[in-house]
Amino acid sequence: MVAGNWKMHGSYELVGVMRESLNCFSNDEIDIVLFPPFLYLPEMAKQFQNSSLTYGAQNCANHLQGAYTGEVSALMLAEIGCRYVILGHSERRAIYHETDTFIAEKVKMAISCDLIPILCIGETGEEREANQTDRVLQEQLQAIISLPESEKVLSKLVIAYEPIWAIGTGKTATPKLAQETHSQIRQFLAQYLPKEQQSIRLLYGGSVKADNAAKLIAMPDIDGFLVGGASLDSTQFVSICQAAIEGR
Ligand code: PGA
Repeated sequence: MVAGNWKMHGSYELVGVMRESLNCFSNDEIDIVLFPPFLYLPEMAKQFQNSSLTYGAQNCANHLQGAYTGEVSALMLAEIGCRYVILGHSERRAIYHETDTFIAEKVKMAISCDLIPILCIGETGEEREANQTDRVLQEQLQAIISLPESEKVLSKLVIAYEPIWAIGTGKTATPKLAQETHSQIRQFLAQYLPKEQQSIRLLYGGSVKADNAAKLIAMPDIDGFLVGGASLDSTQFVSICQAAIEGR
């Protein structure tokens, strides 16, 4: 899977450019999902019909509906044809003070509306240097594990490991470091999942580019990417998708 998080970037024009550029891929070989700002979702719904491309939202509310000014509910996202929703991105955690418990509520809400959450987890540079990575990631996952029916929740989840020090910095995790961390996440989750469900999808995110994607995807526990900056450039994004297919 290659997911493109446009963050607060993009335009109507970019929707069309991506539709043209990504048309060559079939969903037998790869799942490509674009996450534009909410405003462009109806345009994607229009332009991506009869294509293998899917789209999702960068966030959703923790409530189904009601007096929550400025929020968008998972039910509305499902209605516009979203298949996925990114939850717990580090920018939402850091800038908008979203907590693990709050994010877990949104995960529950998204699943109840048949959306697949891409849950982002990751440590800061200081936490990694202080050997706190495992503890931080486990704490972020614990809120999900503590939900009622957590096995069901985990079986629907995609997880994106995004070290915060690698996001938007051009400082990608080395394939070795990313692999080690992915393997630890997989082992940790395995305790909470029955054997047949242990193939949970783990994406890597943080300065993924055309020139580092092949080495990262060659790692056994990296199942795809969550791409920020490079998802706004159709040539880069196409190359990342190609690398993901070749490295399967
Ligand atoms: P980046 O962003 O690829 O620009 O580092 C990744 C993300 O924030 O999901």
